[in-house]
Amino acid sequence: MIPLDPSPEQMREMGEAALAYAVEFLRARAEAPASRFEEAETVARRYRASPPEQGGEFPPLVELVDAIARNSADNAGPGFLAYIPGGGLFASSLADLLSTTIDRFVNLWGEAPVAAQIEDNVVRWLCDLFGYPPESRGVLTSGGSMANFSAIVSARKAKLPEDFLSGTLYVSEQAHASVAKAAMLAGFPVRNVRRVPVTPELRLDVDAARLMVEEDRAAGLEPFALVASAGTTNTGAVDPIAACADLAAEEDLWLHVDAAYGGFFQLTERGRARFRGIERADSITLDPHKGMFLPYGTGGLVVRDGARLRAAHHAGQAAYLQDLGEDGHLPNFAEYSAELSRDFRGLRVWFPLALHGVSAFREALDEKLDLARVLYEGLCEVPELELPWEPELTVVPFRLREGDDAANARLLERINASKRVFLSSTVVEGRFTIRACILSHRTHEDRVRECIEIVQEAVASLVR
Ligand SMILES: Cc1ncc(COP(=O)(O)O)c(C=O)c1O
Repeated sequence: MIPLDPSPEQMREMGEAALAYAVEFLRARAEAPASRFEEAETVARRYRASPPEQGGEFPPLVELVDAIARNSADNAGPGFLAYIPGGGLFASSLADLLSTTIDRFVNLWGEAPVAAQIEDNVVRWLCDLFGYPPESRGVLTSGGSMANFSAIVSARKAKLPEDFLSGTLYVSEQAHASVAKAAMLAGFPVRNVRRVPVTPELRLDVDAARLMVEEDRAAGLEPFALVASAGTTNTGAVDPIAACADLAAEEDLWLHVDAAYGGFFQLTERGRARFRGIERADSITLDPHKGMFLPYGTGGLVVRDGARLRAAHHAGQAAYLQDLGEDGHLPNFAEYSAELSRDFRGLRVWFPLALHGVSAFREALDEKLDLARVLYEGLCEVPELELPWEPELTVVPFRLREGDDAANARLLERINASKRVFLSSTVVEGRFTIRACILSHRTHEDRVRECIEIVQEAVASLVR
């Protein structure tokens, strides 16, 4: 039996088994099926159990990980084009192993100043990426949803009185559901989340937003925030951020940009051109577990005026933490977020940045933009398909020209049955729409060209 504090030999033996599995798993991604659900539920049931009273051996736990990996969509593989891929960087896996081993507390800097410094390096880099001033601050969150939540709470605190129920916020019909959820969690009635119509390119219609704000103000409501998307989940549409910033300035609204999907394209010239004006946003959500290819569990929020982020999250000094320093040269991140104890996310981001350099991310993201063009142009050649929206970033939506929702659902099934790619669907303009999102560092041109062939064959098999 393995004691709670294993011997060095036991740790080495288990560690080597885990590392051997990890290396072989990653080596095999190119040939692995893009999804495998056939027995997944049966296998899941087989693993239903209460924990044993007496402990067991380590190898069955590696087998458990393998059962998870084998009976699922392969989110880490090059064929994963569903939802928003990331893929998981090995450097981050190693950072997690080491950071959870030393188990240092990062959220109050006095407990482990070097850890806080590394996390601060990451946050400063994110602020600098968007041209934010020195007084900007940020936090690493578990993901984009929590970042959006903290952004809405900050906007509420900055712009509304304690009694805030007449406050209204404006989001495009295409915004991610986490924005409305954030507003709900922040205490707003659903009706206070105003859905702004979109232009034919599926971008927020700023004139329509302006009218809605004016009408709401005339009706005695208190418009306080506008949320723009730097890449929607559905189609990758980028809202006109500069025009949104103008409207926000005119109407004294907090401008939040949800860049959970698209944010890191700011590293590329094309991304910066599309996000023009983003530096004027009051806050920006980013998801390193998407655009930096990190494993799930790392999002981020940056706020131009850091004091506002703190004002919304700091509830006063707790007596039992009096031994730790005040917010100073390094921030007490806990005072800027909803969390106190949490994992050391900064190391998970810093390892890959230090090991590969920023240029590796810039190049990979540039490649993804090129690949989206390749996919778009390839699918445009299939006469039975319509592609109503050119990719602004790396989402390529398409559907059958003539075919109802059921036919499109069958098409998606056939594409995914190839097991070489795994795509997902959404509903746009009331119609079932298939979408491919290229955002894994493991997806390259060969797989994208293969995807085009798979879609062509699937379409042909449907109309035969
Ligand atoms: C635009 C956008 N915002 C927010 C989110 C939510 O992020 P998370 O899943 O990290 O909570 C997503 C996730 O796909 C997204 O695409």
